[in-house]
Amino acid sequence: MDSKALVKEALAAREMAYVPYSHFAVGAALLTKEGKVYRGCNIENAAYTPTNCAERTAFFKAVSEGEREFAAIAVVGGPAGKPPMDYCYPCGVCRQVMAEFCEDDFVVVVGKSEDEIREHTLIEILPHTFREKDLNR
Ligand code: THU
Repeated sequence: MDSKALVKEALAAREMAYVPYSHFAVGAALLTKEGKVYRGCNIENAAYTPTNCAERTAFFKAVSEGEREFAAIAVVGGPAGKPPMDYCYPCGVCRQVMAEFCEDDFVVVVGKSEDEIREHTLIEILPHTFREKDLNR
């Protein structure tokens, strides 16, 4: 699956965002190395801190189904009820979750639309990672 198709999946996932507090709707589409896609949206909460980002929703769905090998994720976000107006980059917590399950060359795609797409690697957006191996140093 190419980045454009993955952004399309993320746009569909964004339709499910539960965002009564921020009114900022985010969608993510996580591609496994075998080609399966897991969608995620942000899910907010009246107590605020239990809020889950779209990216982590997608990761936790996939990991809980036994997936461990990931190729790419697409992320789209912006004010709810409108098409995205800008690129939406993963927050620091979601980048750390990506680092737990993905290698440095994992592809992070951000899109404004199907035709306005940027591609990055995980190591580009999260340099000097902290991973399991670092616990033993
Ligand atoms: N959010 C995401 O879902 N992903 C991001 O990459 C950035 C932020 C959500 C969290 C919260 O529900 C809303 O966007 C505003 O921060």
